Amino acid sequence: MTHLARSRFPHRHLLGIAQLEAEDIELVLDLADSYVEVQRRPEKKLEILRGFTQINLFFESSTRTRTSFELAGKRLGADVVNMAVQHSAIRKGETLIDTAMTLNAMRPDVLVIRHADSGAVALLARHVRCSVINAGDGSHEHPTQALLDALTIRRRKGRIAGLTVAICGDIAHSRVARSNMLLLGRLGARVRAVGPRTLVPREIASYGVEIHHDMRRGLEGADIVMMLRLQTERMQGSFVPSVREYFRFYGLTRDKLRHAAPDALIMHPGPMNRGVEIDGEVADDIHRSAILDQVEMGVAVRMACLDLLTRDRRPAADGDGFRPEGG
Ligand code: CP
Repeated sequence: MTHLARSRFPHRHLLGIAQLEAEDIELVLDLADSYVEVQRRPEKKLEILRGFTQINLFFESSTRTRTSFELAGKRLGADVVNMAVQHSAIRKGETLIDTAMTLNAMRPDVLVIRHADSGAVALLARHVRCSVINAGDGSHEHPTQALLDALTIRRRKGRIAGLTVAICGDIAHSRVARSNMLLLGRLGARVRAVGPRTLVPREIASYGVEIHHDMRRGLEGADIVMMLRLQTERMQGSFVPSVREYFRFYGLTRDKLRHAAPDALIMHPGPMNRGVEIDGEVADDIHRSAILDQVEMGVAVRMACLDLLTRDRRPAADGDGFRPEGG
């Protein structure tokens, strides 16, 4: 593991998968693998980020991402502040950039930002001195979600290259889909985008994915079935005739799952809408569903990202408390 403690990540910010080479992704996944073991032991706290400050700035709601970034920072020893946006000066008309520059003046080391507008996180990153992590911007990217999905797949299947991954549902509005299509393609998986024409636009083919509008054909032989929720908060107008119709044609049921590989893994980034994009019984199948594994991997991946992005501002990594194997 010494090579992991010494490896350098050639990026100041993590704004999207688009900026990462395959070896950057592999480095995050290898390091995150070590942090999975740290998380599973009774004493989880390290001192790697002692003295560092992380501010979580979420302009959109979140359960998984915000909590796991908070846990990740605290488990690495950082001081973590969750800014309550609903009580912030943004409510008094302060601009996003002024808010970012104000926080920057308090000298945080990392800002973790979620925003409803695509590109907003990259814009803020240009106005601050610290590292910025994109925790989801509009329908653009959600890089740590794709990284935790990749870690889940790699641990359950032993590889990513050569697998067939069917990403199903509301691809059009999904930052998770975009980050996953980029990452999985880069690591050699064959990716399919499956859903109705209204939710899987033709332009998605530019990500190097196959498009399927027939769910059964899209699932044929798939090793991974990744379901997405209808992101109504980003929709203007109606994209499906009714929830009932949508579930009938695109909801993942036992019957439809029979078209995938016999050992196909079921994934969902959450939040999940049972009876809309996935049947509750399928989601809870302890042999096939990796949905709670994804949540666990989220903390480990975020620890790895925080560690790697701050390395050039820390003393030699060997002496900073990173002991993934020894405890
Ligand atoms: N997957 C995901 O981003 O979940 P949250 O919205 O709960 O953070």
